[in-house]
Amino acid sequence: MAAPDYEKVSLLGEQKASMQNVVKVLIAEDEPNALAGLAELISGWGYRTETARDGMEAWEKTQAWDPAIVVTDLKMPRMDGMGLLAKLAEGAEGLSANMAVVVLTAMGSIQLAVDAMKLGAYDFLQKPVDPTRLKTILANATKQRETAIELEVARRRLRESGVLGALVGSSRAMREIFTLIEQVAPSNVPVLITGESGTGKELVARTLHDLSPRKARPFVAVNCAAIPETLIESEVFGHEKGAFTGAVERRAGCFELAAGGTLLLDEIGEMPSGTQAKLLRVLEERKFRRLGARAEMDTDVRVLAAMNRDPQRAVKEGHLRPDLYYRLNVFNIAMPPLREHLDDLPPMVETMVNEMNQKHGRKVSGVAPSMLDRLMAYTWPGNARELRNTIERAVILCPDGAPLDAGHLPSGFGKDQSAMLQAADGSSITVRVGATVDEAERLLILRTLEATGQNKTRAAEILGVSLKTLHNKLKEYVRDQQEVRS
Ligand SMILES: Nc1ncnc2c1ncn2[C@@H]1O[C@H](COP(=O)(O)OP(=O)(O)OP(=O)(O)O)[C@@H](O)[C@H]1O
Ligand SMILES: [Mg+2]
Repeated sequence: MAAPDYEKVSLLGEQKASMQNVVKVLIAEDEPNALAGLAELISGWGYRTETARDGMEAWEKTQAWDPAIVVTDLKMPRMDGMGLLAKLAEGAEGLSANMAVVVLTAMGSIQLAVDAMKLGAYDFLQKPVDPTRLKTILANATKQRETAIELEVARRRLRESGVLGALVGSSRAMREIFTLIEQVAPSNVPVLITGESGTGKELVARTLHDLSPRKARPFVAVNCAAIPETLIESEVFGHEKGAFTGAVERRAGCFELAAGGTLLLDEIGEMPSGTQAKLLRVLEERKFRRLGARAEMDTDVRVLAAMNRDPQRAVKEGHLRPDLYYRLNVFNIAMPPLREHLDDLPPMVETMVNEMNQKHGRKVSGVAPSMLDRLMAYTWPGNARELRNTIERAVILCPDGAPLDAGHLPSGFGKDQSAMLQAADGSSITVRVGATVDEAERLLILRTLEATGQNKTRAAEILGVSLKTLHNKLKEYVRDQQEVRS
């Protein structure tokens, strides 16, 4: 199907207000007076109209004229409305986004209308047509199409440039994340976003909000790890005056601030268990109560949650209530650590250099290959945030007109990462005298795996062996164990 005018206008980003003028509506009806009446009515509302006297003519016109909406009668000569609908639905993508079909039914033929909906009709209307209802249906169909097109535009932009919102990445891992975000953004389901610190969890939450119908409403993020336990509940739900010592005034909570929008509960595992239980109730009943208040308030907030530890482990260790976990984990977006999608690093660096040039009024011109090599060789325990900080520092140090080079990295950058792992993890291994080299090696490998959260790529890097060697060793251990058992 050729791109309709409507879409071209939208893709060019031209004035939305005039969009309605270009929305094309094809009307199919065999009764001439009714046809003329509908055409007059619909063009009177600012749509461009075209008419057809039977299903066959309508089918031909959809091919040549490519309307956004088809309003069709059911009983018509040559090809009836159902036949037309079936033919339109034949295309690869079916009907939904490309064309909205509104079916006109005679009194008492509700069953036919239902069948039409099953075939993918957008809506139906009983005859004689109620103009107010028709107007509403056409407006809704237009709006739905607009949203579908906006999403399609975002998708195309992303396919071309590897960017979704502020997220950069065209690796397989990131493309999968982008697809997930697009799929889940328009709905109201909770999403649990997991990943190491600095992997972009908050950015994902913002992107989910920006790609949702809530985008014009507030996005509120509350970091449960940054608020004293005793205050979290009041922060989230608000309180009445005198609800507790120190509650000198009535205060709105995050649920009220985010009304109609999105609320990100960051570090959800740090939320006290009692507050988690209350949150679960809000998710289930869409009602909440300020601390100290009698009345409950309705809420229409989409809840997103983030945490940088493994949620199942958090449940096991009692940091996250299992019931809340199941409710939040309807969708899970697991952000990969940067070291697992290093092919995204060069485009990320480019974006960050541009951003920092803007922020600091600099004119740094790109990145020298030697610098890029150093960046690619590093394992980035702090992920995108660490990369961003590194680039910011380098841009400030770099003279205008020159590219970033390795000299703009902090001294000791990337040196001795195993020492850093030790420092971060604080663990060491003890090997008894008399152990074999094989035993010591095995202990070191298993403990390093543990310290990296079973991340084989990172463990291999730290151990200074190839991933393949590590895999072989692990296979050996499994084999040994099986032999011991049998
Ligand atoms: N894919 C990406 N492309 C570009 N920038 C990114 C990307 N991911 C993250 N960033 C940047 O990295 C920084 C950290 O991201 P963000 O705050 O979303 O991480 P986080 O996972 O929420 O971290 P934490 O667990 O510490 O809260 C931000 O400045 C963000 O803009
Ligand atoms: Mg965060």
